[in-house]
Amino acid sequence: MITLSVIKADIGGYVGHATMHPELIATAQANLERAKGESLLIDYHVTACGDDLELIMTHQQGTADQKVHRLAWDTFVDCTAVAKKLKLYGAGQDLLADAFSGNVKGMGPGVAEMEFEERKSEPVLIFMADKTSAGAWNMPLYRMFADPFNTAGLVISEAIHQGFRFEVIDVLEHKKITFEAPAEIYDLLLFIGSPSRFMVKSVYSRDTGEIGAVSSTDRLSLIAGKYVGKDDPVCIVRAQNQFPAVGEVLEPFSQPMIVEGWMRGSHNGPLMPTSVKQANPSRFDGPPRVICAGFQLANGKLVGPVDMFDDPSFDPARAQANQIAEVLRRHGPFEPHRLPLNEMEYTTMPAVMKKLEGRFAPLDEPVAVKA
Ligand code: F6R
Ligand code: MG
Ligand code: MG
Repeated sequence: MITLSVIKADIGGYVGHATMHPELIATAQANLERAKGESLLIDYHVTACGDDLELIMTHQQGTADQKVHRLAWDTFVDCTAVAKKLKLYGAGQDLLADAFSGNVKGMGPGVAEMEFEERKSEPVLIFMADKTSAGAWNMPLYRMFADPFNTAGLVISEAIHQGFRFEVIDVLEHKKITFEAPAEIYDLLLFIGSPSRFMVKSVYSRDTGEIGAVSSTDRLSLIAGKYVGKDDPVCIVRAQNQFPAVGEVLEPFSQPMIVEGWMRGSHNGPLMPTSVKQANPSRFDGPPRVICAGFQLANGKLVGPVDMFDDPSFDPARAQANQIAEVLRRHGPFEPHRLPLNEMEYTTMPAVMKKLEGRFAPLDEPVAVKA
């Protein structure tokens, strides 16, 4: 069995929250190279989406493995030291605990991991986003694995005609539930249509029970109890044969959707698919980005990556995302650009409310007019 682990954190932005300093990538590469030399890892790839450092690792330790998680944690700590030296912005911002305690889950970094028997040929796609939260994967995962207008194979391929099983978590109540698609898609959509609370954690083949997709669902805002940045989630998808084809997995991103995040984690904006090189959110700290690294696995070796959105066929999606950004930006501080009060990652409302407390009068009282 092979385990594919993607562990990510924002441990310092360059410049502001825009992108990643090359020294952080080099530091992470050196650490993972050492772990490969010691045979903890089979292979690795380090990349970045905006200000998030992404560690893509293969090994045989299974999911939630203490050694692999410690490696990721120590790597983020080492990179934080470099970020502090360079005085990068928000150095160490996602390391919410003082010391590692067995598993990075709940400690700030985002994690998506799956363990599986490598197929005769194993194409995997790793999606990484910046300036948004984990619910951003709900619609694309639905489209890939349950929507016949996206995935032709659901209708015409015997290998996936039986559909998929969706595991959905309720991040507020800390509960999970599974839905069968297509039989229960109306129930499924009722929940995952509210992506700030209900998130698709994983997807399984109904035919073979094999795992097809897994996402990171660590809500930083709920972990920390206060604003510490958006989750900037990751998602792993296996493609071809008993799963949707590579092109079916990428197709949802041809229609940019509106996600929460962007400036100060408090705005709705379009999720723009870009090449890795273009994943540098700058306009109004955005708009939110998604990149996709494609690999073929060969006995755990990561053959690749191919930069999947580095393709002119995604130019219209980028143009459309910019148009959506224009329309939303026009709303300035008004909803639906700005998030509703309870969804904003930061707000001055309590302080302003307190200041104006004495000036609020019951509606039926005459307005006091100064002479
Ligand atoms: C969004 C994000 C940025 C910051 C913004 C203000 O996820 O991280 O938009 O919220 O640049 O940052 P501070 O408050 O640190 O000046
Ligand atoms: Mg940041
Ligand atoms: Mg980020």
